[in-house]
Amino acid sequence: MVETVKWTPDGVVMIDQTKLPRTVEFVTCRTYQEVADAIRTMVVRGAPAIGVSAAMGVALGVLQTPPERLAAEFPRICETLASTRPTAVNLFWAISRMKRLYASLDGSPPERLRQAFVEEALRVYEEDIAINRAIGRHGAPLVPDGKSVLTHCNAGALATAGYGTALGVIRAAVEAGKKVHVFADETRPFLQGARLTVWELQQDGIPVTLITDNMAGHFLKSGRIGCVIVGADRIARNGDTANKIGTYSVAVLARENNVPFYVAAPVSTLDLSLESGGRIPIEERAAGEVTHVFGVPVAPEGTAVANPAFDVTPSRYVTAIITEKGVARPPYEESLAAFARGE
Ligand code: MRU
Repeated sequence: MVETVKWTPDGVVMIDQTKLPRTVEFVTCRTYQEVADAIRTMVVRGAPAIGVSAAMGVALGVLQTPPERLAAEFPRICETLASTRPTAVNLFWAISRMKRLYASLDGSPPERLRQAFVEEALRVYEEDIAINRAIGRHGAPLVPDGKSVLTHCNAGALATAGYGTALGVIRAAVEAGKKVHVFADETRPFLQGARLTVWELQQDGIPVTLITDNMAGHFLKSGRIGCVIVGADRIARNGDTANKIGTYSVAVLARENNVPFYVAAPVSTLDLSLESGGRIPIEERAAGEVTHVFGVPVAPEGTAVANPAFDVTPSRYVTAIITEKGVARPPYEESLAAFARGE
């Protein structure tokens, strides 16, 4: 399976997702600042992969800082990583976890501290893969046999430490012997669907057909799509779900055509501090992503552009949320809170 992000003695090694599928190249981040840059420039992307990278970034920061300077530097390490991208809550979840570790190690000898940070980062990584497999186990029974699944963006191995959330459910269904075909939305403007989801599914031999985003309604109406499965960047207490821009349109079209719309995400993507999705921060990205495709202009010079990277799907369109703890159904205030409590 593709290795998205890996801790090595040289630093944090990431597959460069800005280069896929044209070339498979790896980037080695040797400092926490380089990890922060990799997250900001989307060398690594996808909520869980951002969280894992941030945990490894904090560990790198601890290793690269002389022990006598760590107390002053630690908040800066965390802030630098936290300021990279605002929407995926897994980033802040991972940094908070590393902050708690630091607090618990207060006064420990430097060697013990360094070892504990590396071990914790590796735990975040390993847990993520195990969580995705559990999401897959819970979600696989929801995937109809012999039909197509529509997905948006990339919520696969490339968006996680491995296996994927939405694509993890599809993988688990295939492993259970179901015949599954995937429609992948290309996902303008960054083309995660075309560049990453298609590439990743092809690596595994899972049949996939690429469509442009504006074709989703046509295929949802055709009766060929058994369900939609997407990932999430942040889920509010009531189940409102922030995910890649365009997800909301797909959810509305799925409802219109009586196609179940599933969100697959780990419990670390829940933000129970937010009552609803209205206060989820939405990242605005550079205009050039919209006016240009691979450096080629597709709009007149000086065109006014809006480029929100995410939208929020109201929970009334979400049939169920598949987590590692099980499948949450409405009312989400109750089902999600129970999963967050570990029930
Ligand atoms: O901007 P990106 O590529 O980081 O956005 C990714 C998504 O929106 C994914 O669907 C989400 O993070 C879930 S990944 C398992």
